[in-house]
Amino acid sequence: MTKFLITGASSGIGKAVAKKLAARGAMLLLNSRSAERLGPVGGECIAAGGTGVVHAADLTTPGVVEGLFKAAQDQLGGLDAVIHCAGVGLIKPTLETTDAEFSRVMNVNARATFLVAREACRFFSAQKQGLFITLPGILGRVGMRNAAAYAASKFAVTGMLKSMALEFQRSGVRICLLHLGGVDTPFWDNLQMTVQRDRMIPVEVAADAVISAVDLPSHLVLNEIVIQPESHQM
Ligand SMILES: NC(=O)c1ccc[n+]([C@@H]2O[C@H](COP(=O)([O-])OP(=O)(O)OC[C@H]3O[C@@H](n4cnc5c(N)ncnc54)[C@H](OP(=O)(O)O)[C@@H]3O)[C@@H](O)[C@H]2O)c1
Repeated sequence: MTKFLITGASSGIGKAVAKKLAARGAMLLLNSRSAERLGPVGGECIAAGGTGVVHAADLTTPGVVEGLFKAAQDQLGGLDAVIHCAGVGLIKPTLETTDAEFSRVMNVNARATFLVAREACRFFSAQKQGLFITLPGILGRVGMRNAAAYAASKFAVTGMLKSMALEFQRSGVRICLLHLGGVDTPFWDNLQMTVQRDRMIPVEVAADAVISAVDLPSHLVLNEIVIQPESHQM
């Protein structure tokens, strides 16, 4: 497997995965909104021995996702896997969460994931092969205080992708959901929650979980995995 689309590649888990795959010589199409933050990641991927084509765009904008798959075809010559890491956080008491905040979280985490997954299913079912990996996180499986809007968006991701996995069974489309607990990334920088960074999942461990899913033989799929800090095991 050599050709990857990675969304959310400018930061955190997406960036760490991009660097690991680049070091293996992978061809990468990298997406996030900020060209300024994404450009240097593309440079690091090339320096590591891979191909890092940068395509900065907001996934919630109509036509962007279709454009990404076209760019993959035109610039990488195809696509073996999509690693969808783009997402936004919101940790806020329910009574303080506005309609606009709820809509923003649903738009990025649920709607954009639908758009990316739908195009991945279209592309991969046509070529009868392909892997879609995303990160609903542990809040796509269980609730948490002050996380109603975020958990709603992530439960939506879990439900839609489990449904797509059944719909595209036996068509070569493999779907992998990683339910990770708190990962030490910039995701937490602006959230209203005290977190103990040194007890979180290191970003390199999160990236290695993604790589484990990539490395399975193509007739197998790592459907779902849960990794939690010991203090939060279930
Ligand atoms: N960190 C955790 O504890 C944790 C745990 C479980 C699951 N997750 C999930 O894992 C994923 C990655 O998280 P992370 O920790 O790596 O977060 P992060 O460091 O904040 O990275 C999020 C990425 O998403 C991109 N992004 C946000 N909105 C976008 C949009 N509308 N269009 C395109 N790109 C967009 C950001 O780039 P730009 O700002 O340049 O657009 C950034 O590259 C998220 O879905 C998150 O919910 C995180």
